[in-house]
Amino acid sequence: MAKKLWEKSVQVNAEIDRFTVGLDREMDLYLAKYDVLGSMAHITMLESINLLTAEELEKLLAELKLIYASIERGEFCIEDGIEDVHSQVELMLTRKLGDIGKKIHSGRSRNDQVLVDLKLFTRAQLKEIVECVEELFHVLISQSNKYKDVLMPGYTHLQIAMPSSFGLWFGAYAESLVDDMQFLQAAYRICNRNPLGSAAGYGSSFPLDREMTTRLLGFDSMNYNVVYAQMGRGKMERNVAFALASVAGTLSKLAFDACMFSSQNFGFVKLPDECTTGSSIMPHKKNPDVFELTRAKCNKIQSLPQQIMMIMNNLPSGYFRDLQIIKEVFLPVFGELKDCIRMTTYIMNRIEVNKHILDDDKYLAIFSVEEVNRLVLEGVPFRDAYKKVGLDIEAGRFSHSKEVHHTHAGSIGNLCNDRISELFESVVKGFDFAAVEQAEKKLLGREA
Ligand code: ARG
Repeated sequence: MAKKLWEKSVQVNAEIDRFTVGLDREMDLYLAKYDVLGSMAHITMLESINLLTAEELEKLLAELKLIYASIERGEFCIEDGIEDVHSQVELMLTRKLGDIGKKIHSGRSRNDQVLVDLKLFTRAQLKEIVECVEELFHVLISQSNKYKDVLMPGYTHLQIAMPSSFGLWFGAYAESLVDDMQFLQAAYRICNRNPLGSAAGYGSSFPLDREMTTRLLGFDSMNYNVVYAQMGRGKMERNVAFALASVAGTLSKLAFDACMFSSQNFGFVKLPDECTTGSSIMPHKKNPDVFELTRAKCNKIQSLPQQIMMIMNNLPSGYFRDLQIIKEVFLPVFGELKDCIRMTTYIMNRIEVNKHILDDDKYLAIFSVEEVNRLVLEGVPFRDAYKKVGLDIEAGRFSHSKEVHHTHAGSIGNLCNDRISELFESVVKGFDFAAVEQAEKKLLGREA
């Protein structure tokens, strides 16, 4: 077994080693690129405070760039017997550069290393989530505009209630994403602060230049107080999980609608055949499995904030190994959510809409309020009009044209999709992804 970074005279028990390392060797692969970036910023700063020479820095940076590229090519792995990504990178540097590699950890702990890795990883993932959400938003808005005149029944208690439209249905989910986006932005801003320099959670006696690492890594600012920086472990993940859960909530509701409305008993929408799955026994089946899986996965994602909270529940300040377990539930979630958003976007862009739902007179009663309102406009007091229409329906005497005249903001005839889009764009504009990208490129020496 290879030596640990922290091993002195006693070698750790193999079972204890297995148990404490847990899934880290898999989980840390998500963080590998960011661990390298964090190290590049850290050593650049160490040179500026004379803890490395310019020549040592140059050699280390060159080696770290090679490691970064190997991670991008999918060739990086954490070797057998190596505890985590932090140990692996240091080992690779030491193998190549000897004593110079052993110098990089001055003024740092794996505690602030993993903190910064998590922030850099999450920041990059949130950008991708935002891009996925944007695509879905545009599909929903364009479907809403396209089908704005196609009516459908609206329901309360799953009982037919009032006229609705596909314009409203698609547009509702688009507007839901506006609020989710706002949540994502809050999460992003909380994430985008530099914890590096907090070391084990109490700072260092070296005169670390934290402004410099903040700038090099493209963070908005830092988590100033070193104790708070460490307290951010778990808190950042939980807050981001809340934002992801918000998106997931939108998707799972949409998925349920899509499953229900595509059932023969509704027949409001038809999923493209290529997007459905079959049955091994029933030859006629075209099942909405994508939306069922999306619903379940997104419901699972909605439990993520609670899972994280339970893992870190009531921990006092300072680092604890408990925090390692959060990585297992948190790191894979971005891939799952992106997958669900992309699938939903693909199908919603191709979903077929039934333009003749209301031809069936079983939906006639949804016009009851239209008739009441017509009588009100003729001067009949609302309660009397309500009663007359109710009695007509009971007696089987109700009839009404299947046209609606809704004009107020946000209604069938006035969707305000332009307004919804403006709101969405104004939130999206608040992300400064370009600054982050530029900083990372500069650190990697990859500027155009
Ligand atoms: N694998 C650890 C984690 O994810 C890294 C930090 C180790 N720090 C320590 N004090 N044991 O939390």
